[in-house]
Amino acid sequence: GASRPRVTFLGTGYLGATYAICYAELGYEVLGYDVDADKIAKLNAGEVPIHEPGLDELLRRNLAAGRLRFSTDIAETADFGDVHFICVGTPQRADGMGADLSYVEASVTSLAQHLTRKALIVGKSTVPVGTAEWVEQLVGKHTPADLGVEVAWSPEFLQEGFAVDDVLRPNRIVVGVKSEWANGMLYAAHKGLFDLAATEDREVPMVVTDFATAELVKVAANAFLATKISFINAMAEVCEAAGGDVTQLARAIGYDPRIGNRFLQAGLGFGGACLPKDIRAFQARAQELGAGEALRFLHEVDLINLRRRTRVLHLAAELLGRRSGPAGPDLSGTRIAVLGATFKPNTDDVRDAPALAVAALLHKAGADVHVYDPQGMENARRAVPELTYEPGINEAVTDADLVCVLTEWADFRNADPSVLGDLVAGRRVIDARNCLEGALWTQAGWEYRGLGRP
Ligand code: UDX
Repeated sequence: GASRPRVTFLGTGYLGATYAICYAELGYEVLGYDVDADKIAKLNAGEVPIHEPGLDELLRRNLAAGRLRFSTDIAETADFGDVHFICVGTPQRADGMGADLSYVEASVTSLAQHLTRKALIVGKSTVPVGTAEWVEQLVGKHTPADLGVEVAWSPEFLQEGFAVDDVLRPNRIVVGVKSEWANGMLYAAHKGLFDLAATEDREVPMVVTDFATAELVKVAANAFLATKISFINAMAEVCEAAGGDVTQLARAIGYDPRIGNRFLQAGLGFGGACLPKDIRAFQARAQELGAGEALRFLHEVDLINLRRRTRVLHLAAELLGRRSGPAGPDLSGTRIAVLGATFKPNTDDVRDAPALAVAALLHKAGADVHVYDPQGMENARRAVPELTYEPGINEAVTDADLVCVLTEWADFRNADPSVLGDLVAGRRVIDARNCLEGALWTQAGWEYRGLGRP
């Protein structure tokens, strides 16, 4: 019934798997669905397909408790759920900047075709504004009207590495609904979160709004975060030209609570599966709506972000005393250690990772690139097989003419510059995340360069 609805999650990728497991932990009866039989078998065997702290243990506990199951059977899924969450991917289209909605279409269509009773279908995937209305029409086309199946939208704000906590302790719930019934069902489908908050003396604000606003909240939030990062990286460019220090500038402006110090870390910029593709899809959608001008600045946000990568390439050439020809710098005959491949620390995710993109640029410029990352080796090797991958920091830096720290893993921050100094061919380091104690490296005889710093 509505007091504790049974919930399904369609799509067991990053989003769906995390949500399914966390919802079981909150006490809901949960079924996760995916077309990928391999993934489903792994999940049912207690194996999390992604690297996310805490998730393994929660999966095993809730499988054992019998609250959680995974299936490739859409009829079973349709039958199970009072509320169905759509969590499939919306990647960037191969032919442009817009979002590819084919997984949304496929999952909603097959679910709708198998529904035999009233249910609520809730979109969670990040989508172009207008998708919820389209999903509603799709559902109408594939279910008999007398079932009264309804649609709602509820964006999520998971950060990789913090996904469990972001689901269990969200800083807000946003729902786009059209009826009191849908509103009530969604309240019930979030009640477990509100109850948990109450026991921890917290409150979770809930914003109830229309479809379009709910869809826009997600992309607006990501556009804002991307803009904040590119803002400070633009300041880094100016600091580089003027001889200022962007880390001190960021600290100083961040004390103003209107600005805030978070997401103000200048460096190699943003990557990952969300921010880059979301700001591009948002521009494409605004263009379609005739509001392209309003988001033209996001194009600059993207360019500033990508310029950080070529900045590292040129800084590498400068430190190695190489000249740039018309085709860019020639780094042939040099050996470069790249520390970091993932798009941020504490994940194994290399999707649109600035670190791996820079490693590939250095390789293309002729350098012999040796990469080490604490978690991302397997994914990196698959994505960019032409680089040399090393089992540890020491192996990566051995005989290197230059060391580039491109992801701010704790292992790199804690590395001893004098120990590494004995292994390298030349003591030169680029700290592209401004994460090292520069003075320590300088004392140990290294030529140290951060981004946006003198
Ligand atoms: C992001 C959003 O934070 C999350 O709310 C949304 O649901 C999905 O997209 P995520 O992709 O996990 O989450 O990564 P996030 O922690 O936001 O970092 C994104 C990128 O920005 C990383 O490459 C990170 O290194 C970079 N970043 C972040 C900076 O360069 N500087 C900063 O100050 C913060």
